[in-house]
Amino acid sequence: MKVAVMGYGTVGSGVVEVIETHNKSIANRTGGEILEVSHILDLRDFPGDEHEDLFTKDFNDILNDEDVMVVAETMGGVNPAYDFTMKLIESGKSVVTSNKELVAQKGLELLEAAERNGVNYLFEASVGGGIPIIRPMAQCLSANNIEGVAGILNGTTNFILTKMIEDGMTFEEALKLAQDNGYAEKDPTADIEGFDACRKVCILASLAFGKHVYPNQVRAEGITKITLEDVSYVSSANGVIKLLGQIKKIDDDSIAAFVSPAIVFNGSQLASVNGVFNAILVRGDAVGDVCFYGPGAGKLPTASAVVADMVDCAVHVDRRKTFGWGEGAEDYVVDEKTVLKMPFYVRAKAGCGEIMARFNDVKFLNRKGQPSDEVAFITDSMTENELTSKLENMDVINIIKVTDY
Ligand code: HSE
Repeated sequence: MKVAVMGYGTVGSGVVEVIETHNKSIANRTGGEILEVSHILDLRDFPGDEHEDLFTKDFNDILNDEDVMVVAETMGGVNPAYDFTMKLIESGKSVVTSNKELVAQKGLELLEAAERNGVNYLFEASVGGGIPIIRPMAQCLSANNIEGVAGILNGTTNFILTKMIEDGMTFEEALKLAQDNGYAEKDPTADIEGFDACRKVCILASLAFGKHVYPNQVRAEGITKITLEDVSYVSSANGVIKLLGQIKKIDDDSIAAFVSPAIVFNGSQLASVNGVFNAILVRGDAVGDVCFYGPGAGKLPTASAVVADMVDCAVHVDRRKTFGWGEGAEDYVVDEKTVLKMPFYVRAKAGCGEIMARFNDVKFLNRKGQPSDEVAFITDSMTENELTSKLENMDVINIIKVTDY
């Protein structure tokens, strides 16, 4: 079967490599059909690349080739990926993608178009890189009512936090190391501000609860305000700080979904997920907690998921996979600050007496070199708005959510 790849960056070149090096095992799974890459779309030149004869800068070469049945979109970004994907689907080709931004923004439209045209739009690689999570949620856990999901969904920020926690590096030093190692981009904003994790939360929430959740409905707070002082206080409480995407069912018509730094205590399955690894914990009413762990990014791990989707399309050439969700609603994602109760970590310029006068029950934390006018503590369970009113007029340095996962 002829296939094409759009975008020859890290993931796209990995897709070509995996197809070429795994054709025997792929053929075993397709009933003998091998995948043959016939076009690679990219505006850049790759002089000396062994696939030089496959490159094109013209999208129409793929669109108009009737023999191409499946296309991998590994370009990233919404435009022109959306336009290309829609045209391919409308011309009867299946598309698979690693592009979380596109699925989070336009997934519903593309899934509906795929349904209308009797083709597949699959996106296993869009969340958790090589970790199987889309199919397990859509198929293996389908007997459950999902109660919530919590995930370490961004490898770059998990690497930075791990270096801060384990090696005492500052945020800036750890970010520089992440860039030197090729994990973080030159402009690391999407990772460190939580936007990348936010897109993945949208996809998981849409899949878990059946209604499209858009990025502008999910509050995203990154890790730039986390300091070694916070790391040290949290460690004294046997916890670690992770960037978590969290989703919670509120009722049949609403959910909470947000990305933020969160304290995870050491007994949690998420606490020992270190470096660039990702993990997604799904809480179902029948199964309990299940945790999916593995490489959340990288050339071959992500290509592994993309090519698996291509194989699935090849196997289901006359049938549709039925992953998907329906339209969302403006008030579907609630403001978690007013609804969700949880404990919080607070660091402030204050004395213990002042804190005890304002809170019924807190656990004070300590660290080496703690100044006499600084306190850090964990509150009992309350909403963030309740916390804010209790802290009114106080010189607060940092607040971090405490997760129950
Ligand atoms: N920048 C992302 C990460 C890549 O660090 O996890 C995978 O989405």
